[in-house]
Amino acid sequence: MIHHYQQLLSPTNHDNNNGWNHRLKNPVFAFAAIVTTVIVVCSLAYNGMDVGTSTFAIASRLRQSSEAAEDCNTKLSPTSTTIPSPYEQIWKNFTTPNWAKKKQQYRDIELDIPEAERICFVHVGKAGGSSVGCSLGFSLHCDNTTQIYDGLLPQRTTRLFHTNVYDCFDDSAYFLFVVRNPVERLRSAFLYERPNSEAELKKEYPDYYERRKNLYLDCPSFNTMENFVQEGMTKHGNASDVCKTRAMEAVRGTRHFSCHMYFNYQFHLEGVPSDANILVIRNEHLIPDWNSVEHYIGGVKEIMPPEKANETMPVMNKSTKDQKDKWISEDSTKILCMNLCNEIVNYKKILRLSLNLNYMEVEHSIEELRATCPMYADFEEGDCPLPMPNISDKLKASRGYEHLS
Ligand SMILES: *[C@@H]1O[C@H](CO)[C@@H](O)[C@H](O)[C@H]1NC(C)=O
Ligand SMILES: *[C@@H]1O[C@H](CO)[C@@H](O)[C@H](O)[C@H]1NC(C)=O
Ligand SMILES: *[C@@H]1O[C@H](CO)[C@@H](O)[C@H](O)[C@H]1NC(C)=O
Ligand SMILES: *[C@@H]1O[C@H](CO)[C@@H](O)[C@H](O)[C@H]1NC(C)=O
Ligand SMILES: *[C@@H]1O[C@H](CO)[C@@H](O)[C@H](O)[C@H]1NC(C)=O
Ligand SMILES: *[C@@H]1O[C@H](CO)[C@@H](O)[C@H](O)[C@H]1NC(C)=O
Repeated sequence: MIHHYQQLLSPTNHDNNNGWNHRLKNPVFAFAAIVTTVIVVCSLAYNGMDVGTSTFAIASRLRQSSEAAEDCNTKLSPTSTTIPSPYEQIWKNFTTPNWAKKKQQYRDIELDIPEAERICFVHVGKAGGSSVGCSLGFSLHCDNTTQIYDGLLPQRTTRLFHTNVYDCFDDSAYFLFVVRNPVERLRSAFLYERPNSEAELKKEYPDYYERRKNLYLDCPSFNTMENFVQEGMTKHGNASDVCKTRAMEAVRGTRHFSCHMYFNYQFHLEGVPSDANILVIRNEHLIPDWNSVEHYIGGVKEIMPPEKANETMPVMNKSTKDQKDKWISEDSTKILCMNLCNEIVNYKKILRLSLNLNYMEVEHSIEELRATCPMYADFEEGDCPLPMPNISDKLKASRGYEHLS
């Protein structure tokens, strides 16, 4: 098994350069996903700031909720209208993108939430977090008719962490993750970031142009999910060696081509404090898990009645991508599982760290994963064919500071 793996993966093993010497801050992840289509546009865009002169603004200390206030010399009082954004404490020359904030009408709620109760929403891309985020009252690109849901959770969840926007207080009471089977998440990311045409990519997503071009347009056989794996990730595939290396690195999250593949479970897990209190909503069990989180933090039971699920949390409509685009053969699934082995380990870590899920629920999700990745679902840290990547530089460049401990 291991031998087979090395054969398949050999093209990338020599290349450790993660290609991350250049950073564009201020991503605007346009969640173009409204009720009818889930098109979460992950686009890096300048935000009118002086990107040319700004380099890394690395803070070497933690951002506590109380420090944030001191930083700006703002004494919070009942008349204060805003609490300084943790993101802006670190990236002094940038503003927190609008999508990352609560909708305007819900921002003041934070003033009434004691610091010790604030929750950070950890939105791992393509895991189903948009639906949850809309119900929590975040802007994202939620339909303007979506409303904050009842209960404690949407009130207390005041800030979010998504890709390279970490706008959370490190002393948040809880960090709420939304997770999904890692292979499904990967597939969704692949199709979501695939450009329709070069012209459109250039025009609509100029700041993503280079990265996406490198993965998709320069490697024309990477059109459907199945071809991406068969041509790019097998020994017999017809993609060039350069393209094969890119495919492997993209899937493993070691190089930034696809934003949602790069900012993966490991990044978001290691991006939160090591002693974070973690809550989890599983995409596959959205309603029961929302309810268990609400109950865990002291709210009423069954706040979201299952029979009302469609109205209360409209799962954003499934992508309209062709079945053929999405289909993955058994062989390709196996190859993805192998390359996502460390992601599987991190996915299970998040599940096991969750305070709201019980042992049976975690086991149930691992059982579901076995159906997709029978060979790797039970691998634990250190078992995988490749070691867990060292992402300390990635965290520094993307979250904005060096250490948490
Ligand atoms: C998904 O979108 C289609 C077409 O817009 C619509 O007919 C359907 O009701 C939607 N389904 C859900 C669950 O929102
Ligand atoms: C922010 O911008 C100012 C003026 O352009 C510059 O002097 C300063 O070094 C920048 N700060 C950071 C942290 O990039
Ligand atoms: C919601 O969006 C629609 C279409 O963009 C717009 O016509 C409408 O005024 C908006 N409603 C609110 C309450 O902002
Ligand atoms: C690669 O190309 C050859 C010749 O065109 C073809 O027979 C083969 O099926 C291709 N391989 C894959 C994995 O598609
Ligand atoms: C919710 O919507 C989906 C898709 O339209 C439908 O299949 C399902 O039966 C609905 N569930 C309920 C409880 O109405
Ligand atoms: C991870 O990488 C950083 C910087 O490249 C290095 O300082 C650190 O020692 C590495 N950590 C481990 C455990 O190898």
